[in-house]
Amino acid sequence: MTTWKLTSLVGLIGAFLPTYAAPVDSLRQTFLPLPSRIVTQAAENGTYIENIAVRSNGGLLVTLLQPSASVYAVEDPFSRSPSMSLVHTFEGANGLTGISETSPDTFVVAAARYPGLAAPYQNTSTLWELKLNNKGEEATVHKIVHIPEASLLNGIVTVPSYKAAVLVGDSVLGVVFRVDVTTGRYDVVLDIPELKPIVGGPIDLGVNGVKIRAGYLYWSNTDRASIYRFPIDMLGYPVQGAKVEQVAAIKNASGVDDFALDRQGNIWAATDFDNMLITIQKDGRETVVLGSPTELTVAGDTSVAFGRTPLDRHILYVTTSGAAAVPVNGTIIELGKIVAVDTRG
Ligand SMILES: *[C@@H]1O[C@H](CO)[C@@H](O)[C@H](O)[C@H]1NC(C)=O
Ligand SMILES: *[C@@H]1O[C@H](CO)[C@@H](O)[C@H](O)[C@H]1NC(C)=O
Ligand SMILES: *[C@@H]1O[C@H](CO)[C@@H](O)[C@H](O)[C@H]1NC(C)=O
Ligand SMILES: *[C@@H]1O[C@H](CO)[C@@H](O)[C@H](O)[C@H]1NC(C)=O
Repeated sequence: MTTWKLTSLVGLIGAFLPTYAAPVDSLRQTFLPLPSRIVTQAAENGTYIENIAVRSNGGLLVTLLQPSASVYAVEDPFSRSPSMSLVHTFEGANGLTGISETSPDTFVVAAARYPGLAAPYQNTSTLWELKLNNKGEEATVHKIVHIPEASLLNGIVTVPSYKAAVLVGDSVLGVVFRVDVTTGRYDVVLDIPELKPIVGGPIDLGVNGVKIRAGYLYWSNTDRASIYRFPIDMLGYPVQGAKVEQVAAIKNASGVDDFALDRQGNIWAATDFDNMLITIQKDGRETVVLGSPTELTVAGDTSVAFGRTPLDRHILYVTTSGAAAVPVNGTIIELGKIVAVDTRG
Protein backbone atom coordinates (compact mmCIF):
# COMPACT_ATOMS: atom_id res chain seq x y z
CA MET A 1 0.00 0.00 0.00
CA THR A 2 1.75 3.14 -1.21
CA THR A 3 -0.09 6.40 -1.15
CA TRP A 4 1.43 9.79 -1.66
CA LYS A 5 -0.32 12.16 0.64
CA LEU A 6 0.44 15.10 -1.63
CA THR A 7 1.00 15.09 -5.37
CA SER A 8 2.85 11.94 -6.28
CA LEU A 9 3.97 13.26 -9.64
CA VAL A 10 5.71 16.28 -8.22
CA GLY A 11 7.28 14.09 -5.56
CA LEU A 12 8.59 11.61 -8.11
CA ILE A 13 10.01 14.22 -10.47
CA GLY A 14 11.58 16.01 -7.54
CA ALA A 15 13.07 12.75 -6.40
CA PHE A 16 15.34 12.60 -9.43
CA LEU A 17 17.09 15.85 -8.62
CA PRO A 18 20.12 15.48 -6.37
CA THR A 19 18.96 17.64 -3.50
CA TYR A 20 19.50 17.71 0.20
CA ALA A 21 17.49 18.23 3.33
CA ALA A 22 16.16 21.77 3.36
CA PRO A 23 17.98 23.95 5.85
CA VAL A 24 15.42 24.12 8.61
CA ASP A 25 15.59 27.92 8.41
CA SER A 26 13.53 27.63 5.29
CA LEU A 27 10.90 25.55 7.07
CA ARG A 28 9.29 28.77 8.26
CA GLN A 29 8.47 29.50 4.64
CA THR A 30 7.58 25.87 3.98
CA PHE A 31 4.11 24.45 4.09
CA LEU A 32 3.69 22.28 7.13
CA PRO A 33 3.11 19.49 7.76
CA LEU A 34 5.86 18.17 5.50
CA PRO A 35 4.64 15.86 2.70
CA SER A 36 4.83 12.18 3.59
CA ARG A 37 3.83 8.79 2.25
CA ILE A 38 3.71 5.30 3.66
CA VAL A 39 6.60 3.32 2.14
CA THR A 40 5.29 0.04 3.45
CA GLN A 41 3.31 -1.28 6.37
CA ALA A 42 3.84 -4.59 8.14
CA ALA A 43 1.42 -7.43 7.48
CA GLU A 44 1.76 -9.26 10.78
CA ASN A 45 -0.32 -8.29 13.80
CA GLY A 46 1.54 -6.60 16.60
CA THR A 47 4.51 -5.55 14.47
CA TYR A 48 6.51 -2.96 16.40
CA ILE A 49 9.28 -1.53 14.22
CA GLU A 50 12.03 -0.24 16.46
CA ASN A 51 15.08 0.95 14.53
CA ILE A 52 16.45 1.57 11.05
CA ALA A 53 19.71 1.49 9.13
CA VAL A 54 20.11 2.57 5.51
CA ARG A 55 22.22 0.27 3.34
CA SER A 56 24.93 1.56 1.01
CA ASN A 57 22.72 0.48 -1.93
CA GLY A 58 19.87 2.66 -0.64
CA GLY A 59 17.81 -0.20 0.79
CA LEU A 60 16.45 -0.05 4.32
CA LEU A 61 16.94 -2.52 7.15
CA VAL A 62 14.58 -2.33 10.10
CA THR A 63 14.53 -4.18 13.40
CA LEU A 64 11.41 -5.39 15.21
CA LEU A 65 10.92 -5.16 18.95
CA GLN A 66 7.75 -7.25 18.62
CA PRO A 67 6.52 -9.88 17.84
CA SER A 68 9.88 -11.52 17.03
CA ALA A 69 13.60 -10.69 16.97
CA SER A 70 13.54 -10.09 13.22
CA VAL A 71 15.30 -7.87 10.72
CA TYR A 72 13.33 -6.91 7.61
CA ALA A 73 14.65 -5.33 4.42
CA VAL A 74 13.03 -2.88 2.03
CA GLU A 75 14.73 -2.71 -1.36
CA ASP A 76 14.35 0.50 -3.39
CA PRO A 77 12.27 2.34 -0.79
CA PHE A 78 11.75 5.21 -3.26
CA SER A 79 10.16 2.96 -5.88
CA ARG A 80 6.43 2.81 -6.42
CA SER A 81 5.48 -0.25 -4.37
CA PRO A 82 8.26 -1.35 -2.08
CA SER A 83 7.66 -4.27 0.25
CA MET A 84 9.21 -5.59 3.42
CA SER A 85 10.92 -8.97 3.29
CA LEU A 86 12.28 -10.99 6.18
CA VAL A 87 16.09 -11.09 6.34
CA HIS A 88 16.68 -12.98 9.58
CA THR A 89 15.11 -13.93 12.91
CA PHE A 90 17.58 -14.28 15.78
CA GLU A 91 17.42 -17.28 18.06
CA GLY A 92 17.28 -17.03 21.82
CA ALA A 93 15.62 -13.61 21.67
CA ASN A 94 12.17 -12.21 20.94
CA GLY A 95 13.00 -8.56 20.32
CA LEU A 96 15.61 -6.34 18.67
CA THR A 97 16.57 -2.74 19.30
CA GLY A 98 19.47 -0.84 17.69
CA ILE A 99 21.13 -1.53 14.34
CA SER A 100 24.25 0.13 12.90
CA GLU A 101 26.37 -0.44 9.77
CA THR A 102 30.04 -1.21 10.47
CA SER A 103 31.01 -1.76 6.81
CA PRO A 104 28.94 -2.01 3.62
CA ASP A 105 26.37 -4.79 4.12
CA THR A 106 27.62 -5.62 7.62
CA PHE A 107 25.58 -4.51 10.62
CA VAL A 108 25.57 -4.82 14.39
CA VAL A 109 22.20 -5.58 15.99
CA ALA A 110 21.14 -5.75 19.66
CA ALA A 111 18.87 -8.65 20.69
CA ALA A 112 17.28 -9.68 24.00
CA ARG A 113 14.38 -11.64 25.46
CA TYR A 114 11.51 -9.37 26.49
CA PRO A 115 8.66 -10.46 28.77
CA GLY A 116 6.87 -7.20 27.88
CA LEU A 117 7.62 -3.94 26.14
CA ALA A 118 11.00 -2.26 26.73
CA ALA A 119 12.12 -4.30 29.74
CA PRO A 120 14.14 -7.39 28.86
CA TYR A 121 14.96 -10.27 31.16
CA GLN A 122 18.29 -9.73 32.83
CA ASN A 123 21.24 -11.57 31.30
CA THR A 124 19.71 -11.92 27.82
CA SER A 125 21.28 -8.97 25.95
CA THR A 126 23.47 -9.93 23.02
CA LEU A 127 25.11 -8.10 20.15
CA TRP A 128 25.09 -9.88 16.80
CA GLU A 129 26.76 -9.22 13.48
CA LEU A 130 24.54 -9.55 10.42
CA LYS A 131 26.11 -9.74 6.95
CA LEU A 132 24.05 -9.47 3.79
CA ASN A 133 24.86 -10.41 0.25
CA ASN A 134 24.42 -7.64 -2.29
CA LYS A 135 20.74 -8.27 -2.92
CA GLY A 136 19.99 -8.82 0.74
CA GLU A 137 18.58 -12.27 0.01
CA GLU A 138 21.04 -14.13 2.16
CA ALA A 139 22.16 -13.22 5.62
CA THR A 140 24.82 -14.75 7.79
CA VAL A 141 25.02 -13.96 11.45
CA HIS A 142 27.47 -14.45 14.24
CA LYS A 143 27.32 -13.60 17.90
CA ILE A 144 29.72 -10.77 18.80
CA VAL A 145 29.18 -10.85 22.55
CA HIS A 146 26.64 -11.59 25.25
CA ILE A 147 26.66 -8.74 27.81
CA PRO A 148 25.31 -10.20 31.08
CA GLU A 149 25.32 -6.89 32.97
CA ALA A 150 23.38 -4.98 30.30
CA SER A 151 19.83 -4.02 31.22
CA LEU A 152 18.36 -2.59 28.01
CA LEU A 153 20.76 -2.09 25.11
CA ASN A 154 19.10 0.37 22.76
CA GLY A 155 20.75 2.71 20.22
CA ILE A 156 23.99 1.62 18.51
CA VAL A 157 26.43 3.80 16.57
CA THR A 158 29.61 2.83 14.75
CA VAL A 159 32.68 4.96 15.48
CA PRO A 160 33.30 6.50 12.02
CA SER A 161 37.08 6.79 12.47
CA TYR A 162 37.47 3.30 13.96
CA LYS A 163 34.81 1.04 12.55
CA ALA A 164 35.76 -1.96 14.66
CA ALA A 165 34.10 -0.19 17.59
CA VAL A 166 30.49 0.65 18.33
CA LEU A 167 28.99 2.70 21.15
CA VAL A 168 25.79 1.30 22.61
CA GLY A 169 23.43 3.11 24.97
CA ASP A 170 21.79 1.21 27.83
CA SER A 171 18.46 2.96 28.51
CA VAL A 172 17.91 1.47 31.97
CA LEU A 173 21.44 1.54 33.41
CA GLY A 174 21.97 4.94 31.80
CA VAL A 175 25.46 4.19 30.52
CA VAL A 176 27.27 3.88 27.20
CA PHE A 177 29.12 0.67 26.39
CA ARG A 178 32.00 0.66 23.91
CA VAL A 179 32.21 -2.70 22.17
CA ASP A 180 35.00 -3.93 19.92
CA VAL A 181 33.07 -5.92 17.34
CA THR A 182 36.08 -7.99 16.26
CA THR A 183 37.13 -9.17 19.73
CA GLY A 184 33.83 -8.80 21.62
CA ARG A 185 35.63 -6.85 24.33
CA TYR A 186 33.40 -4.28 25.99
CA ASP A 187 33.54 -1.59 28.69
CA VAL A 188 31.28 1.06 30.14
CA VAL A 189 32.95 4.23 28.85
CA LEU A 190 30.43 6.89 29.88
CA ASP A 191 28.30 6.93 33.03
CA ILE A 192 26.84 10.37 33.82
CA PRO A 193 23.44 11.64 35.07
CA GLU A 194 22.45 12.91 31.60
CA LEU A 195 22.31 9.29 30.39
CA LYS A 196 20.02 8.11 33.21
CA PRO A 197 16.27 7.69 33.29
CA ILE A 198 14.40 9.88 35.77
CA VAL A 199 13.48 7.83 38.84
CA GLY A 200 9.70 7.54 38.76
CA GLY A 201 9.86 9.31 35.38
CA PRO A 202 7.50 8.96 32.44
CA ILE A 203 8.72 5.57 31.23
CA ASP A 204 12.01 4.90 32.97
CA LEU A 205 14.20 5.13 29.88
CA GLY A 206 17.29 7.33 29.69
CA VAL A 207 19.74 7.25 26.77
CA ASN A 208 17.95 6.01 23.64
CA GLY A 209 19.29 7.04 20.21
CA VAL A 210 23.05 7.56 19.79
CA LYS A 211 24.81 9.29 16.86
CA ILE A 212 28.34 10.52 16.19
CA ARG A 213 29.05 13.79 14.39
CA ALA A 214 32.32 15.76 14.16
CA GLY A 215 33.98 14.33 17.25
CA TYR A 216 30.89 14.28 19.46
CA LEU A 217 28.67 11.48 20.69
CA TYR A 218 25.08 12.77 20.63
CA TRP A 219 22.26 11.00 22.43
CA SER A 220 18.59 11.42 23.19
CA ASN A 221 17.36 10.86 26.73
CA THR A 222 13.74 9.71 26.61
CA ASP A 223 12.59 10.68 30.11
CA ARG A 224 14.36 14.04 29.95
CA ALA A 225 13.02 14.80 26.41
CA SER A 226 16.49 16.16 25.67
CA ILE A 227 19.49 15.70 23.41
CA TYR A 228 23.00 15.89 24.82
CA ARG A 229 26.53 15.55 23.45
CA PHE A 230 29.97 14.65 24.77
CA PRO A 231 33.32 14.85 22.92
CA ILE A 232 34.94 11.54 21.96
CA ASP A 233 38.36 10.65 20.52
CA MET A 234 39.17 8.86 17.25
CA LEU A 235 38.75 5.45 18.89
CA GLY A 236 35.36 6.34 20.34
CA TYR A 237 36.44 6.94 23.94
CA PRO A 238 34.98 9.96 25.74
CA VAL A 239 37.57 12.72 26.16
CA GLN A 240 38.86 12.71 29.74
CA GLY A 241 37.76 15.72 31.76
CA ALA A 242 35.38 17.00 29.06
CA LYS A 243 31.92 18.27 29.93
CA VAL A 244 28.50 17.17 28.74
CA GLU A 245 26.42 19.76 26.84
CA GLN A 246 22.67 19.87 26.51
CA VAL A 247 21.97 20.42 22.81
CA ALA A 248 18.17 20.54 22.92
CA ALA A 249 15.29 20.37 25.38
CA ILE A 250 12.11 19.42 23.57
CA LYS A 251 9.08 21.39 24.72
CA ASN A 252 6.30 20.02 22.52
CA ALA A 253 6.61 16.38 23.58
CA SER A 254 6.86 14.52 26.85
CA GLY A 255 9.67 12.27 25.63
CA VAL A 256 11.98 11.57 22.72
CA ASP A 257 12.95 8.33 21.00
CA ASP A 258 15.62 8.13 18.29
CA PHE A 259 16.79 11.09 16.18
CA ALA A 260 18.94 12.06 13.19
CA LEU A 261 21.21 15.00 12.42
CA ASP A 262 20.92 16.55 8.96
CA ARG A 263 23.81 18.01 6.97
CA GLN A 264 23.36 21.40 8.60
CA GLY A 265 23.40 19.88 12.07
CA ASN A 266 19.67 20.31 12.76
CA ILE A 267 18.00 17.58 14.81
CA TRP A 268 15.07 15.53 13.52
CA ALA A 269 13.50 13.76 16.49
CA ALA A 270 10.91 10.99 16.73
CA THR A 271 8.67 11.62 19.74
CA ASP A 272 7.14 8.12 19.85
CA PHE A 273 4.15 8.36 22.26
CA ASP A 274 3.40 11.93 21.16
CA ASN A 275 3.05 10.84 17.51
CA MET A 276 5.06 13.73 16.08
CA LEU A 277 8.23 14.43 14.14
CA ILE A 278 9.99 17.50 15.54
CA THR A 279 12.96 19.52 14.30
CA ILE A 280 15.26 21.49 16.55
CA GLN A 281 17.49 24.02 14.85
CA LYS A 282 20.95 24.88 16.06
CA ASP A 283 19.58 27.98 17.83
CA GLY A 284 17.15 25.76 19.76
CA ARG A 285 14.04 26.69 17.76
CA GLU A 286 11.63 23.81 17.73
CA THR A 287 9.07 22.98 15.04
CA VAL A 288 6.53 20.20 14.80
CA VAL A 289 6.92 19.22 11.15
CA LEU A 290 4.62 16.20 10.97
CA GLY A 291 1.95 14.44 13.02
CA SER A 292 0.11 15.34 16.20
CA PRO A 293 -0.96 13.43 19.31
CA THR A 294 -4.34 12.62 17.71
CA GLU A 295 -3.02 11.52 14.27
CA LEU A 296 -1.81 8.18 12.94
CA THR A 297 0.57 9.75 10.37
CA VAL A 298 3.73 8.93 12.36
CA ALA A 299 2.04 7.47 15.44
CA GLY A 300 4.51 5.78 17.75
CA ASP A 301 7.51 6.99 15.70
CA THR A 302 10.55 5.12 16.99
CA SER A 303 13.48 6.08 14.75
CA VAL A 304 14.50 8.15 11.74
CA ALA A 305 17.22 8.01 9.07
CA PHE A 306 18.02 9.99 5.92
CA GLY A 307 18.27 8.24 2.55
CA ARG A 308 21.79 7.73 1.18
CA THR A 309 21.32 7.88 -2.59
CA PRO A 310 20.96 10.96 -4.84
CA LEU A 311 17.32 9.95 -5.26
CA ASP A 312 16.41 10.09 -1.61
CA ARG A 313 19.01 12.09 0.31
CA HIS A 314 16.31 14.60 1.19
CA ILE A 315 13.94 11.85 2.38
CA LEU A 316 13.74 11.05 6.06
CA TYR A 317 12.57 7.49 6.70
CA VAL A 318 10.54 7.17 9.90
CA THR A 319 9.74 3.84 11.55
CA THR A 320 6.74 3.37 13.80
CA SER A 321 5.46 0.99 16.46
CA GLY A 322 1.89 1.38 15.21
CA ALA A 323 1.02 3.27 18.41
CA ALA A 324 1.30 -0.06 20.20
CA ALA A 325 2.39 1.36 23.55
CA VAL A 326 0.05 4.35 23.72
CA PRO A 327 -2.94 4.02 21.36
CA VAL A 328 -4.06 7.17 19.55
CA ASN A 329 -7.16 8.67 21.22
CA GLY A 330 -6.92 5.88 23.76
CA THR A 331 -7.91 3.00 21.48
CA ILE A 332 -6.54 3.28 17.92
CA ILE A 333 -3.53 1.17 16.97
CA GLU A 334 -2.23 -0.03 13.61
CA LEU A 335 0.62 -2.18 12.32
CA GLY A 336 4.13 -0.73 12.39
CA LYS A 337 5.10 1.08 9.20
CA ILE A 338 7.84 3.02 7.45
CA VAL A 339 6.98 6.55 6.39
CA ALA A 340 8.99 8.63 3.89
CA VAL A 341 9.03 12.35 4.71
CA ASP A 342 10.12 14.87 2.10
CA THR A 343 12.25 17.24 4.19
CA ARG A 344 12.30 19.84 1.41
CA GLY A 345 8.63 20.52 2.11
C1 LIG B 1 -5.19 -8.89 14.17
O1 LIG B 1 -5.70 -8.48 15.43
C2 LIG B 1 -7.06 -8.03 15.36
C3 LIG B 1 -7.42 -7.47 16.73
O2 LIG B 1 -7.00 -8.30 17.77
C4 LIG B 1 -7.94 -9.20 14.92
O3 LIG B 1 -9.27 -8.76 14.82
C5 LIG B 1 -7.47 -9.70 13.55
O4 LIG B 1 -8.20 -10.83 13.18
C6 LIG B 1 -5.98 -10.04 13.59
N1 LIG B 1 -5.53 -10.34 12.23
C7 LIG B 1 -4.72 -11.35 11.95
C8 LIG B 1 -4.34 -11.50 10.50
O5 LIG B 1 -4.29 -12.11 12.79
C1 LIG C 1 23.77 -15.62 32.17
O1 LIG C 1 23.59 -16.29 30.94
C2 LIG C 1 24.65 -17.18 30.64
C3 LIG C 1 24.47 -17.66 29.20
O2 LIG C 1 23.11 -17.87 28.91
C4 LIG C 1 24.67 -18.29 31.65
O3 LIG C 1 25.74 -19.19 31.35
C5 LIG C 1 24.90 -17.69 33.03
O4 LIG C 1 24.82 -18.69 34.02
C6 LIG C 1 23.86 -16.60 33.32
N1 LIG C 1 24.21 -15.91 34.54
C7 LIG C 1 23.31 -15.65 35.49
C8 LIG C 1 23.82 -14.88 36.67
O5 LIG C 1 22.14 -15.99 35.41
C1 LIG D 1 6.19 23.83 19.71
O1 LIG D 1 5.91 23.65 18.33
C2 LIG D 1 5.31 24.78 17.73
C3 LIG D 1 4.81 24.36 16.36
O2 LIG D 1 5.84 23.87 15.56
C4 LIG D 1 6.32 25.90 17.71
O3 LIG D 1 5.76 27.05 17.08
C5 LIG D 1 6.67 26.23 19.15
O4 LIG D 1 7.68 27.23 19.17
C6 LIG D 1 7.15 25.01 19.89
N1 LIG D 1 7.21 25.31 21.31
C7 LIG D 1 8.36 25.56 21.94
C8 LIG D 1 8.21 25.92 23.37
O5 LIG D 1 9.45 25.44 21.40
C1 LIG E 1 -8.72 11.47 17.50
O1 LIG E 1 -9.72 12.37 17.97
C2 LIG E 1 -9.68 13.66 17.37
C3 LIG E 1 -10.69 14.54 18.08
O2 LIG E 1 -11.94 13.95 18.07
C4 LIG E 1 -9.95 13.52 15.88
O3 LIG E 1 -9.85 14.78 15.26
C5 LIG E 1 -8.90 12.59 15.27
O4 LIG E 1 -9.18 12.37 13.91
C6 LIG E 1 -8.89 11.25 16.00
N1 LIG E 1 -7.79 10.46 15.49
C7 LIG E 1 -7.95 9.33 14.77
C8 LIG E 1 -6.70 8.64 14.30
O5 LIG E 1 -9.03 8.86 14.49
